[in-house]
Amino acid sequence: MKASSGKKTSVLDKMHDHFMHIAPRYRELRTTDLGPLLFITNKMTDLCSIRAADIGCGTGRYSIKFVEHLGEKCHLFCVDNNMAMLRHLREHFARYNISNFTTIRSDSHRIPLQTDSLDCVTSFNAIHHFSLQNFLRESSRILKNNGKLFVYTRLQDQNANTIWGMHFPSFTKKENRLYELDELKAAFEKDPNLNINSVKLFEHHRVYPLEKLVEQAKNHHYSTFRFYRKHEFREALHKFVQNILNHYDDLDKISWKDQNTLLVVENVQ
Ligand SMILES: C[S@@+](CC[C@H](N)C(=O)[O-])C[C@H]1O[C@@H](n2cnc3c(N)ncnc32)[C@H](O)[C@@H]1O
Repeated sequence: MKASSGKKTSVLDKMHDHFMHIAPRYRELRTTDLGPLLFITNKMTDLCSIRAADIGCGTGRYSIKFVEHLGEKCHLFCVDNNMAMLRHLREHFARYNISNFTTIRSDSHRIPLQTDSLDCVTSFNAIHHFSLQNFLRESSRILKNNGKLFVYTRLQDQNANTIWGMHFPSFTKKENRLYELDELKAAFEKDPNLNINSVKLFEHHRVYPLEKLVEQAKNHHYSTFRFYRKHEFREALHKFVQNILNHYDDLDKISWKDQNTLLVVENVQ
């Protein structure tokens, strides 16, 4: 992640604490985008058996869709450094009788999987939490030759155009971990084995009642909210509601467009 080393540990601790806390409600608080998931699984359907890993899988909202779409021919390693997130993932998979997965509690840069063993690595909404270059090196190590890495994220400018970036005071200033596309490309260029095949843009039309947005913010559905002090957050939320009242007539239908980016990457050894 993009913090200088002194601040790094406290931010990592804060984030670990954040995900421990939010694990029970994470799936219901966040919106899952099917577009990128279908794009990824379509790229994999030709393989007769698939070994894949989802890094920074959280409570598995994307992992479960991946396994559902690819079925029994796939085995997914669900990797996260947070025990609580993984516990909720296991409960969720059990509810749907899914067993072709293994959870691994580990850091994104030291994954206990064999070298050259995977067809595919995915990571959704998580790379800004990782040490990027180390994660890329580790992904390249565990991927087979010609294996695919899919990285789904929102970029800094995309964050600015979310409902939070546009109307929640200081949201973009507080969120300095996200990357610009050029920064991501530069990181991949430094890795001798990972070549970006394509960069895909996904646009999502969102419509939410104001009540739901306030609930999401209060529950810190984006970890960015953890960077506000308590009273600062209260004042910012108040101002956010005022901004929404000034911009929208129908408070049951607050609409905007979210954009996200999917990097499709090939491991060439
Ligand atoms: C924003 S959540 C995204 C979770 C999931 N991919 C999703 O989209 O629902 C980021 C996840 O990355 C995990 N994480 C953060 N730093 C990590 C690291 N260094 N290694 C492995 N997992 C990490 C967190 O515990 C959290 O579950």
